[in-house]
Amino acid sequence: MKGTIVKCLEELVTTKFGRDKWEKSLEDAGFNKSTMFLPIGDIDDAQVMKIIEMVCKNLNITLTQAADAFGDYWVNVYSQKLYGHYYAKHKTAKDFFLNLDNIHFIMTKTMKNARPPRFDYEWKDDKTLIMHYKSHRGLIDFLEGLAKGVSKFYHENLQISKLGSSRIKIVFP
Ligand code: HEM
Repeated sequence: MKGTIVKCLEELVTTKFGRDKWEKSLEDAGFNKSTMFLPIGDIDDAQVMKIIEMVCKNLNITLTQAADAFGDYWVNVYSQKLYGHYYAKHKTAKDFFLNLDNIHFIMTKTMKNARPPRFDYEWKDDKTLIMHYKSHRGLIDFLEGLAKGVSKFYHENLQISKLGSSRIKIVFP
């Protein structure tokens, strides 16, 4: 996984819970506590999952709570600084979601070793969108948390829920 995901997690944990919690999680996951992650660097998926697991343990939170916190922080804080233009270009959450597949495809096209998630879109009715999540990583809880972050960013009260391990349902008002 690209380092940018771990950088975001680091920023979230250090600013909201303290650097000691981050350093302990890194050590528990088998890293040196001062390991620096570069946004375009690569980290083995299993190691990323281990860091996430140790963050949950050290903050005493569940994976779902971590996924919600990460989704909120990624969308509303971290990615605004680095990738803000992708949000500015889209005026509504719906527009943004419908471009999310393209955003991942375009932005990782020239990144060596990137394997971004891809999305298919299925409208159940004119307000209900099913997003099919295509990734070998199985991070559906993160997808749900990130989608909630998008709802918050656009100040839209969307109903978001996961359907099994490869789909989320988004109901627009
Ligand atoms: C402008 C905003 C965004 C950018 C630039 C972006 C970019 C990226 C990048 C670079 C990765 C790592 C890919 C890899 O290591 O191969 C990633 C992973 C991921 N992104 Fe995004 N992303 C954005 C917003 C979102 C949003 C809003 C969602 C969901 C609603 C989302 C869903 C995911 C998921 C679930 C992953 C984890 C990897 C996986 O499941 O395979 N992203 N994204």
